[in-house]
Amino acid sequence: MRVRLRDLTLAYVDRGKGPPVLLIHGYPLNNRLWEPQFNSLTNNARLLAPDLRGFGESEVVPGPYSMDLLAKDCHDLLERIVVRRPVVVAGLSMGGYIAFAFYRNYPAKVSGLVLAATRAGPDSQEAKAQRDKAIELVQEKGVSAIAESMIYKMMSPKTYEENPELVAFVRRMMESNSVEGITGALQAMKGRPDSSPTLGQIAKPTLILHGVDDQLIPIKEAEMMRDQIITSQLMAIPNAGHLLNLEQPGLFNGAISDFVKSL
Ligand code: MLT
Repeated sequence: MRVRLRDLTLAYVDRGKGPPVLLIHGYPLNNRLWEPQFNSLTNNARLLAPDLRGFGESEVVPGPYSMDLLAKDCHDLLERIVVRRPVVVAGLSMGGYIAFAFYRNYPAKVSGLVLAATRAGPDSQEAKAQRDKAIELVQEKGVSAIAESMIYKMMSPKTYEENPELVAFVRRMMESNSVEGITGALQAMKGRPDSSPTLGQIAKPTLILHGVDDQLIPIKEAEMMRDQIITSQLMAIPNAGHLLNLEQPGLFNGAISDFVKSL
C-alpha cells in the first residue's frame, strides 16, 4: 500500500487485526524484514510497517535525513491512515533510534515500546568516521558493496551455518535499497542525539529484545537500557544475532504477542 505524505510517497504494509503495532525496520533493510511477523502475529495485532524514505518501495528522496524526520514520517503515516489509538512502537536497531525520537515527540501516541537490537547512546567519534567511510563506499561502489561489508556481521554463527537461505534473503533485501536512502540513513545515524536521557523518562511498558550473539550492538547495551527504563523487561534471545526477529521468529513473535496482550 502507498500513501502520500508531505514531500514523498511512503509504502507500507497494513495487516492483521487487534491493537496497532508500528514496526520500524533497521538499516540497510526495509519492511520485508518483518516477514515472519506478518506471517504469524496478525491474529493478535494490526501490524503497520512502513518502508522508510529511500528504502524498499518508498520514494527515494535525497538526504540528509534525521531521526526526527523519520519519526515524523511514521507519525504522519498513522495520521493519514487514521490510526487513532496509541500504538506499540517497535523498532529494530536504527528503528529503535527512531522509536526514541517518536517517543520524545509524540508520547501520547505510544501505548508501549519494543526496543530490539538497539542502543540509546549516540555514535562515538570512531563510529562517525565509519559512517563517513560507508557513505564514500556506497557513493563509489553502490549498494551491493554496503551489503557485502555488512552481511557477515548481521546474524549469529548458527544462522550462517544452518540457514543460508536466510542469509541470501537478507543480502537481497539490502541490495534492493537505494544509494540515496542508504546515504540519508547513514547521515541520520551519525547525527543522532543521545537518547540516554530519554530512558529515565519512559513511562510506558517497554519490552527490550536482544540477540545474545549480536556482533553489531552488544547485549550489555540492552542491559543498560533495562536498568534505566523502570517500566521495562529484557528478553535475551539465544542463537540470534542482530536480526533476531528473522533468526528466532518463534521466540520473537511469542514475546511480542504476550507483550501486546499484557497492555
Ligand atoms: C541497524 O541495524 O539499523 C544499524 O546497523 C544500526 C547502526 O549502524 O547503528
